This record gives sequence, structure tokens and C-alpha cells, in this order.
Amino acid sequence: MCGIYGYCGRGEALAPVLEGLSRLEYRGYDSAGVAFFDAQGEIKTLKTTGRVQNLIAMAAGQEDAGTAIAHTRWATHGGISVKNAHPHTAGRVTLVHNGIIENFRELRAELNYTPVSDTDTEIMAALIDSEYRNDPVQAILAAQKRLKGSYALAILFSDRPGCIFTVRRESPLALMQTETGCFLSSDPSTFPQCGEYYVPDEHTVAEIIPEGMRFFAGAAQKLELAATNRTQGREGHEHYMLKEILEEPETIRRTVNRYITADGRVDFSCDGVEDSLFDVKRINVVACGTAMHAGLVAAHYFRKIAGVEVTSFIASEFCDAGVRVEPDSLTIFVSQSGETADTLAALRSVKAQGGKVLAIINRQGTVMERECGHVLHTSCGPEIAVASTKAFTAQIAVLYLTAIRMAALRGLLDAAGEKAETAALCAAESIARETLKLRPAIIRMADEIHTAKDVFFLGRAVDYAIACEGALKLKEISYIHAESIAAGELKHGTISLIEPGVPSVCFLTQETTRSRVLLSVQEVLSRGGSVYLFTTGDMQGVEDVENLTVCRMPVEKGFSAVYAEAVCLQLLAYETAKRMGLPIDTPRNLAKSVTVA
Ligand code: F6R
Repeated sequence: MCGIYGYCGRGEALAPVLEGLSRLEYRGYDSAGVAFFDAQGEIKTLKTTGRVQNLIAMAAGQEDAGTAIAHTRWATHGGISVKNAHPHTAGRVTLVHNGIIENFRELRAELNYTPVSDTDTEIMAALIDSEYRNDPVQAILAAQKRLKGSYALAILFSDRPGCIFTVRRESPLALMQTETGCFLSSDPSTFPQCGEYYVPDEHTVAEIIPEGMRFFAGAAQKLELAATNRTQGREGHEHYMLKEILEEPETIRRTVNRYITADGRVDFSCDGVEDSLFDVKRINVVACGTAMHAGLVAAHYFRKIAGVEVTSFIASEFCDAGVRVEPDSLTIFVSQSGETADTLAALRSVKAQGGKVLAIINRQGTVMERECGHVLHTSCGPEIAVASTKAFTAQIAVLYLTAIRMAALRGLLDAAGEKAETAALCAAESIARETLKLRPAIIRMADEIHTAKDVFFLGRAVDYAIACEGALKLKEISYIHAESIAAGELKHGTISLIEPGVPSVCFLTQETTRSRVLLSVQEVLSRGGSVYLFTTGDMQGVEDVENLTVCRMPVEKGFSAVYAEAVCLQLLAYETAKRMGLPIDTPRNLAKSVTVA
């Protein structure tokens, strides 16, 4: 949450920095600000509430001397206001911050400092200024010793024009040298070009000047930004969310192909993940939100294919639940961003207990990747819309590959069986592609449900896991109250909320659950509720149910149907929010990377 961006180089800095900041806006969008050296060598600061676009309008006509730092905010400490927007200044120091300072109140008292803003950030400017004796690096190093919490900072000193200093702890920060100068960003995918970039080690101070960067009290890891990992524009689509849904056939294909050999075996050696990691009796999957739902879906695979017991945890509950990590277990952390604070905290807790860990991450070069060590990748490229879509189907695919590998290692699948499973997985690409053709039918459903106050999502077994994702997707972008219910649980309470006009969306893709799911559907219909059923092309008996709206997905019964269901629920949420005229890519109160616990 929150993004920082900066540039120090030849030519003007404001334009490239504000352009970069726009690409970083998915990290927060309640206010934005920029500080730069003007032609007289003075620091100027501009801040506004709302989107980066407002800041761009404000900066029009300003002249700068080639050095600027900027920030896009998701408020944690202090409301949404100009005074709380970054950059913050105290004395000779102006800075932008991504992270949370835990001891900001104690530091205010120690420094006897009266802040202008309500933020936890401003005190760092005062602290660094109080340590500043004409040596910026020493001042930052001394200040760090007194800071508790997480931070990525870009810092200007008023008597050092043409220079930016950075430092980080836990929060992400990347630096890139180009022909014209150096860029810094919370997310390397927002850099203006592909190629080499650096992630400074924690506590390392970087000095950035137009000619390059120098590291003090530490070093930096060199990484490569590939073209597929650079943030692209919407490419003609009205929203990133739609663009990302439409990309799913391709992102599933890329993700799956990375780990399937020519003879149809699963092989993770390209990522250095060895088979010995899977020599366990239990699996825990830990994640948040959509990534957690991928874990719920995958639990069914692991049990069925690999005969292994699985527990899926909400990351924010994992530590508080006091889960004891057994030596014969593997804990899998799933995260698109690789920086979700709750998932990271759970990872640290499992590692501290000596547990085996594996992460499934989409973004490159993340804190989670470095800390986990064993990482499998979803190859989706940057996901910009706040609502996760293509990462979800890719996470499910990687978890499925993991279940296949475990099954083979446990002797539950022979070579032919493994080949058949991977072939079924390769078909997910075309399932997703064919499912996109259901969009007109889904638009008609969205037309009907967009006026609802509540929508219920029903399913059993793996379809319940999908229902959980359906409800999350709808509520986060349409603001309609949506709730997922295990269909069998309906009669234990929630059915009291069903009355005429209340819509439910039901998923049915498994033969084993058919009759009981249809019974639940009948119960809802009998109470005047309307039901939209997503089911497979070969599911029998659904047409016998009166007043049921059926959407047949282009897939047969079985686990492969989850790719079709995922695309349907994402399109349904998208089309509903679109019908309501809402800001689909940037829903209120949310941010893409949740870096606060
Ligand atoms: C929902 C959504 C969130 C994320 C969750 C975890 O559409 O995007 O629920 O799935 O915040 O984020 P990552 O996967 O980055 O750890």
C-alpha cells in the first residue's frame, strides 16, 4: 500500500516521475504528491487529495532541475487530506514513505517535535534532520537505528540538489539506471524500460545521482526486468480488469508450460524446487483474499489426486490461531504481489518454527520471494486492477501441478497417469478461451442483479471454494453485499434471508454433489429467490428445475471446470460493476498490495 517513485537525471524529472507514479497508482489512490528541485535549487512540494491525475494537472507549467520524488497514498495513519499526503518536510529533509513506522509517537516525544500532519511518516524527516551534520548517509544510518517498523524512503536534502537518497526495511524498493538518469520505484514493473535493476538490501543506503547509484553500509541484488513483467497500458480496453480477464487463456498457458516437460511430466527444476520438498504428509496453504480461495480450491486436488491432507488458512488468522507446524508438513504461501503483510508474517512464523515452506508468487523480486527461498511462479505479468483475476486461475494451475507432482512422487500416478493429468491441465487454456464467449449471457445476468442489495453465492465442495471467490469479486467492485454459503449450510440459518427478489448464484460442476445442490436450489426457489446456475455442458437434471436460469459452461464435469467458473464469476462481477458505473479498477477503500497487517 502506497507507492513511491523518483528520478534523478538529465532533463526534466516531473514528467517521467508523474508518469511512473500513474503506473504505481494501483498501490493506493486517495492522495498524491511530488517534491522536486526547481531551477534555483530550492525544493518545491505539490500535494493533492484524489488521483495522480489531479497532481499532474497541478504540476502543469512547473519547471524542475532533473530531480523529483513522488508518492501515491493509501491512508493508514491520518485521514485523507492534503496535509497528510506525502512528501513530508522537516528542516532540511523532505521525504516520501511506503510502510508503517510503529514507534512514531515515542519518537515525536523524544525529539519534542510538533508535527504538521497526523502521519507516522513526518517524524522520520524530523529524525533524519536531527541527525544531519552535512553527511546524508550517516544521518540516515543513525536515524535507522531508532526506527521500528517498515519503510522504503526516498529522501531529498535541501542542500544537496541533484541527489536522492533511499533506504528500505521490509517495504519494496527497486532502482534502475537508464541512459538519461536513475529511477526508483516501489515496483520495478513500472520502470520506463526493461533490463537490469537493483533491489537494495535492507538498511543499505543508496545515493542516486544522474550518472548512477552508490550503495553504503550494504549492497544490492541485481535482477532483470523482462518485457512480460513491465506494466503495459490498458491496450484499448476500458478497464484493466477486463484486459486481465481476457488475458487468462494466455497467462494460464504460460504458467503451465513453464513446469511441464515435453513428455508430459511436472518438473519444477527451472525454479530450483526439488522433489524432496514434497516428501511430507500434510499441506497447509496460507494466503489472503483471492489467493486464499485458490488454496481452498486446491485443497480438493491435493486430497483427491495426491491423497494428502490439506488445511487452508487465512493468513491473518494463522499466527493468532497458534498453529503448530509439524515436521512432516509443507506450508505453501500463495500471493500475487509477494508482499502481503499477513502472508509474510505467517511465512516468518513457519520459518521460525523450522517448517518447510514454498511460495507461489506472481511478481518478481519480492520480499516474500527472497525470504521464502523456494518459489514457484505464476507467469501472469503485472496485474494492475485491484480485483485479482488472472493471478487466481494461474495460482490454481500451479497448485494443481504441485498436487500432480506429489501424487507421482507418492506412487499414486504412474507416468501415463501424470501425462493424462498434465494434458487435462493444458486444456485449461482453451476452456478459459471458450468461456469468454459467455460474456453476452453474463451481461444479461448483470443487468438483472445490479440492483440487488444482497447476492448469495452457493456451491458444494470445490464449487463452494469457487462461490467464496464469486462473492468476494462481486462485493469488492460492485459494493453489493455478497455472501458465499456452502449449499448444505443454507438451511442452518442463512435461508432466513431468502425472500422474493433476492438473487443467488450457484455453481455445480461435480456429479457427486449434483442432487444435493439441486435440492438447495429448489429450497431457494420455493421461497421466491431467483437462482442463476453455472454448470457444465454435460450436467443432467438441471433443466427439470423450474424458474432456474441456467448458464452452461463449455466444459465437462470435473476439476477442469474451475477455470470456466473463475472466468464466469469474474465477468459477472465486472459487468455488474460496469452497469453501475463504478470505478472498477480502483474500488473505494482498497489497494492492490496490502502491506499493512
Ligand atoms: C481480491 C484481491 C485480494 C488479494 C489479497 C491477497 O480481488 O485481490 O483479496 O487476493 O489481498 O493479495 P496477494 O495475492 O497479493 O497476497
